[in-house]
Amino acid sequence: MIFKAWDRIGIDFVGLGEQEFIFGVPLIGNMTKKSQIHLVCANVKDIHRISPYLVPYLRLSKGMKQVLITAVIDPQVLKSTDEKITFTDPVTALKRIQETINHDLFIVICHADAAKAEKWLTQVSGIDLVILGHQPGVSEKKVEIKGVIVAFNNDRGQFVSYADLVPKDGRYAVSGPHNIRLQAKIAEDRSVVRLIEEYETWSRKYYYAKSKKQHLAKAPPDIENIYVGKERCKECHEETVVSWAKTAHARALDSLLRKGKEYDPQCLPCHVTGMNDKSHGGGFISLNLTPHMVNVQCEQCHGPGGLHAQDPENVSARLSGEQTCLNCHTRDTDPGFSYKKKQKTGIH
Ligand code: HEC
Ligand code: HEC
Ligand code: HEC
Ligand code: HEC
Repeated sequence: MIFKAWDRIGIDFVGLGEQEFIFGVPLIGNMTKKSQIHLVCANVKDIHRISPYLVPYLRLSKGMKQVLITAVIDPQVLKSTDEKITFTDPVTALKRIQETINHDLFIVICHADAAKAEKWLTQVSGIDLVILGHQPGVSEKKVEIKGVIVAFNNDRGQFVSYADLVPKDGRYAVSGPHNIRLQAKIAEDRSVVRLIEEYETWSRKYYYAKSKKQHLAKAPPDIENIYVGKERCKECHEETVVSWAKTAHARALDSLLRKGKEYDPQCLPCHVTGMNDKSHGGGFISLNLTPHMVNVQCEQCHGPGGLHAQDPENVSARLSGEQTCLNCHTRDTDPGFSYKKKQKTGIH
């Protein structure tokens, strides 16, 4: 879907990050074959042996000027792939390209954290613009490395950034980056909406089929404390369970059902109880196998309560506070979350 959308938008090139390499070079290669996108990476070792679809740099003619574009990735951000890809020193790779390829403008995409990028880029001269990936957020302030403007990547598609290049003293002065927040005002593009709908249909089928193949895991014998579900808590904390049932947390699964996302592992962890907690058994696995663990129940905030339910003296149930809320009420899902305000209606 993303490749198709990129084609639709008319993107010239993409600098690869670890998220792309996870899929493996063969798949990336296949996608590239069907699209106009150039995937750029300057510091992949043996690039041509690995994939003819990755290019070390691109040179585009834009308004009579030769724009040289390349990308480097921090070898350390890529911990596990199914490929035996190795990476070379980014500084050496950048210098070689910068010195051997004629150009008027030099743009570098750097997939590394800001500190590392700074370390590399101070060793290479003649760069006109740096675009940092692997960096959450948007740079509202002007950021420079050795006088070179740095644009951060965008916050999950909420922003589009651009920079102006102004001829100055035979070179270019870069002004920006300027960030535009994408608001609902921008009319939706039907062809992209269709792509997303296609993807949604595909992913629903895919995750549904996958959930049918799941099994109830046997709790490892060394696990003492497991999730037991709210019905157990109700035996002794009836009032609390009744008042919790009036909160939004008790209806969190409904929201996924309304969106047809009740099998989607990207959505479930915050809308159910004990999913992905491998160190304790009994948590949510799937709608079919663990229907009693849906919604944000007691144990999602207080921790697994198996031991405590057997022996109330054993108060292993931890008292949770703001930090627990922030696991799910994140910058993305609930911008401006206020514990003070939300504890009034959000707990029990
Ligand atoms: C058999 C009865 C019983 C069951 C079942 C039970 N509790 Fe309790 N719970 C108690 C009692 C009694 C206390 C008070 C213990 C104390 O303060 O010493 C308590 C206290 C607590 C506290 C407060 C702990 C603290 O530090 O003050 C929490 C939180 C709690 N229970 C959560 C749960 C959850 C979640 C469940 C379900 C998984 C659950 N309980 C099941 C009897 C029970
Ligand atoms: C496991 C993830 C998770 C945790 C932890 C969590 N929430 Fe929520 N919360 C949700 C979800 C999901 C919803 C939306 C429920 C729905 O309507 O589908 C929600 C909704 C709410 C709402 C109602 C909507 C709103 O924003 O007014 C309040 C209030 C709230 N949570 C407060 C809290 C507080 C306070 C804490 C911490 C004590 C907390 N939540 C911890 C997932 C979580
Ligand atoms: C990181 C945790 C998290 C994840 C992952 C998550 N949600 Fe939520 N979701 C929340 C929280 C927190 C709220 C409550 C927000 C608020 O305070 O209004 C919420 C609320 C909702 C609501 C209710 C909004 C409303 O106003 O009625 C829907 C629908 C929803 N989520 C769907 C989804 C879907 C679909 C996915 C997967 C694509 C998803 N969520 C993934 C935490 C999460
Ligand atoms: C969204 C997170 C959240 C959920 C869900 C939740 N709790 Fe709590 N609970 C808290 C927090 C936070 C406190 C600390 C008290 C406070 O600050 O209001 C607390 C306090 C408690 C206490 C001790 C104080 C009191 O109010 O008696 C008990 C007992 C308790 N919870 C039981 C439960 C049970 C039983 C459930 C399930 C029905 C549950 N909790 C669900 C967050 C949660």
